[in-house]
Amino acid sequence: MRFVISYVFVFTVCYATIDDYKAKRAKILRDEGLLSVGGNIKLTDKESTVNNCIMQHKFREVDYGFRNPQHYKFSRHFFTYKDDIRQSKVYQIIKDMPKGAALHIHDMGILGPDYIMNLTYSDDLYICFDKSDVKFKFSDKTPKTPCKSNWQLISEARKSSNSTKFDMKLRKYFTLCVSNPDTTYPSIKESWEVFMKYFGRVIDILTYRPIWEQYFYDVLLKFKNDNVMYLEVRSILPSLYELDGTLYAPLITAKTYRKTIERFKKDHPDFVGAKLIYAPSRSVNRSQLDEYLRLARAIKADVPDIFAGFDLVGQEDLGSPLIEFIPQLTAASKDLNYFFHAGETDWYGTMTDENLIDAILLGAKRIGHAYAISKHPLLMKEVIDKGIALEVNVISNTVLSLVRDVRNHPLSNFFAQGMPVVLSSDDPGAWEADPLSDDFYVAFVGVASRLSDLRLLKQIAINSLNYSTLDGVNKNKALDRFNLKWNAFVDHFNCSKY
Ligand SMILES: *[C@@H]1O[C@H](CO)[C@@H](O)[C@H](O)[C@H]1NC(C)=O
Ligand SMILES: *[C@@H]1O[C@H](CO)[C@@H](O)[C@H](O)[C@H]1NC(C)=O
Ligand SMILES: *[C@@H]1O[C@H](CO)[C@@H](O)[C@H](O)[C@H]1NC(C)=O
Ligand SMILES: *[C@@H]1O[C@H](CO)[C@@H](O)[C@H](O)[C@H]1NC(C)=O
Ligand SMILES: *[C@@H]1O[C@H](CO)[C@@H](O)[C@H](O)[C@H]1NC(C)=O
Ligand SMILES: [Zn+2]
Repeated sequence: MRFVISYVFVFTVCYATIDDYKAKRAKILRDEGLLSVGGNIKLTDKESTVNNCIMQHKFREVDYGFRNPQHYKFSRHFFTYKDDIRQSKVYQIIKDMPKGAALHIHDMGILGPDYIMNLTYSDDLYICFDKSDVKFKFSDKTPKTPCKSNWQLISEARKSSNSTKFDMKLRKYFTLCVSNPDTTYPSIKESWEVFMKYFGRVIDILTYRPIWEQYFYDVLLKFKNDNVMYLEVRSILPSLYELDGTLYAPLITAKTYRKTIERFKKDHPDFVGAKLIYAPSRSVNRSQLDEYLRLARAIKADVPDIFAGFDLVGQEDLGSPLIEFIPQLTAASKDLNYFFHAGETDWYGTMTDENLIDAILLGAKRIGHAYAISKHPLLMKEVIDKGIALEVNVISNTVLSLVRDVRNHPLSNFFAQGMPVVLSSDDPGAWEADPLSDDFYVAFVGVASRLSDLRLLKQIAINSLNYSTLDGVNKNKALDRFNLKWNAFVDHFNCSKY
């Protein structure tokens, strides 16, 4: 009886009028909006004009999907709709919009198959077809590296077959894109295997010293043309080599980065720059990790102005969990800033999932992916309180088999709760995506609330500079430069162009 009474007491809610009810309802929506990423931004009149334009196009896309879910592209694999993206007006606006920085990208995964195909026309490049795979090497004589068939100059291999057919076949080795992703990549096992093979093929093309110097320059250019002004690039710092087989130490690779960044900034004075996160493989034992940490300190001493910090990379479910290296990583945290990949997994309650705890306890400044963090309420709070940014890469997460329908991506929760988020693209070349615009577009239309608007886009662009490792003075300079670009974009905006 008492239960019934209290039931009635608690759950019978009275509203004086329907307007009263509606006011309470509106307040909830308003308060949730204020809590979300960008919710506090006030738009100027000119920004509101841009906003009206982009939202008109966004509503059209989302509402069409709502009425025709069978045609909704974002519930399918990225490869099935990536070519249609170019037609989207929202995408076209985002492409022209200044986006700040990309803070989570891997150097060898950035420029796509068309760029790499061009490199295969370079002199002195040898090729060897090895079972179902292919190997490359620049050399002034036939390479000695073991291979199942014969090494030959790629120019001769191409000449001795139909070159169009040859190139069509070759190109497939430099991309994860296929026309039937659901059968090619039934699980994370297959997608990561192909992904790792991609790196195994391109590494010997890209690390030929003259190619590497130009490659990274072209990386910077490609991001600049996508309206990105600053990068933090992860690298395993592979050894560069010469035609005669001379092999350089990883420290030389770091110095090459510095040289290339300086050259690029000289040619493009409005570009803010780039820094390096040394990110070797996480499939290591303790003594190898010691070696990596020693090298990280050496790079920091040698090129302090471009060195941002340390990370470990590779398929997280297969690598060593951070918990195995706590004494070493704790000791090195006095000298190094951490940007660990952590929680890039669907496996709740596993070692991979718990990497998130260690990343935070070890003092990570940002976390790569943090895909699993919404399952950890205390870590969510910690990340907000300490301002530890989550580097989210939505397209990467779909291509590498964590999520299919991006409406289920945890980023929608991160946005709703006003988490410190930055958007990046991980390895856009490997899946033939834009340097950054595609990731912004998919996140804005496919993941964010239908109601999220220009304020969200502006806030994540600002976040990317605010959570970068630029120091106080340079960060403020970068934010000022961003504001100039943003205002120019808003001032010159013309909705009928789209
Ligand atoms: C490949 O080379 C051609 C000819 O130099 C050039 O026009 C094209 O833009 C290059 N493609 C890429 C993706 O760099
Ligand atoms: C080479 O292959 C392409 C594509 O299959 C074909 O269109 C072309 O006719 C071939 N060229 C020669 C010379 O056989
Ligand atoms: C650690 O790994 C390296 C490289 O794989 C190997 O040479 C070394 O023997 C390993 N050390 C231990 C203690 O297992
Ligand atoms: C930058 O991040 C800090 C820490 O999260 C936050 O307090 C500050 O408001 C942010 N600044 C901007 C311009 O977003
Ligand atoms: C806006 O763009 C349209 C279409 O390109 C053009 O006709 C019009 O003159 C532009 N308006 C302004 C104010 O520049
Ligand atoms: Zn990554």
